Amino acid sequence: MTATQSKAPPLKHLTGLNGLSSGTITAILDRASAHKELLLHDTADVPQSLKGKRIVLAFFENSTRTRFSFEIAARNLGASTLNFTASASSVSKGESIADTIRNLEAMRVDAFVIRHPSPGSADLISRITGKSIVNAGDGTHEHPTQGLLDIFTLREFFGKLEGVNIVILGDVLHSRVARSNIFGLGALGANVGLCSPVTLLPGDLPTTNFRVFTGIDDAIRWADAAIVLRLQLERTTGGYLPSLADYSLNFGLTDERLEKIRKHMLVLHPGPINREIEISSNVADRIQPPGFSKSMLLEQVTNGVAVRTAVLEILLSTTE
Ligand code: CP
Repeated sequence: MTATQSKAPPLKHLTGLNGLSSGTITAILDRASAHKELLLHDTADVPQSLKGKRIVLAFFENSTRTRFSFEIAARNLGASTLNFTASASSVSKGESIADTIRNLEAMRVDAFVIRHPSPGSADLISRITGKSIVNAGDGTHEHPTQGLLDIFTLREFFGKLEGVNIVILGDVLHSRVARSNIFGLGALGANVGLCSPVTLLPGDLPTTNFRVFTGIDDAIRWADAAIVLRLQLERTTGGYLPSLADYSLNFGLTDERLEKIRKHMLVLHPGPINREIEISSNVADRIQPPGFSKSMLLEQVTNGVAVRTAVLEILLSTTE
């Protein structure tokens, strides 16, 4: 069983890709490749390496892809999952997140997968529990398993990432996915570009390992692949944009735009998508020629199960 034989360095928590070495990221991706083979061809052969483990899925924000793929990953490895929903817990009576985690830990759980709206919350929790923490998205900070599955998808397509031009397109300011990708892609030697309205570009990234495009045509002319970001409509009401129509016209990825520069583009998006705002339906849905784009959106979702399987296996074998 190749998945358990691949080498991965000890890793107790995964709270972000900032600071992870290329070796660690590559080891996770290699393990995910082995798991993807098993998932696609013979689920019955997935090793029950986490049999008897209990993993809490603590989602303080809504999720479809991340939550379900972690649940499938954990169960495929033989672990049991406990779903924690803040509104149905004693958090709704004022219990702090720290007390919540300590109480769940006292029930002898083995790991926490946490999504929370506050940036830095996963790191904070990793310091108050002896159990493994996986950050499933903390506010605008990081979403490391999304970054890893995006990088996995790009690596599968291009073979290697050194020298590949990848543009991250859209609402970078509010995007934890963009941050994780900037760190992870940079560590593996990809050339990262950011293309966004100036009001949606952050000024506080702890790296300058990217180039900035203010016009989408220049950006997609340069890029081999685009990671299109969801325009976070719930956070962009504060005068960041003249209008949605203006954003769509100037930053939406459409067939017309790709045809104009006659450029073939690999297209990723973490989901959920706002159709006809940051991406047109024909670009989002086209998975094969003819046309100037290839959508990886659903392939990313499949890859998310493989990557999260690898992450849980590596973290929980580290804490043995
Ligand atoms: N990409 C992503 O995090 O999707 P969900 O919010 O559905 O988990």
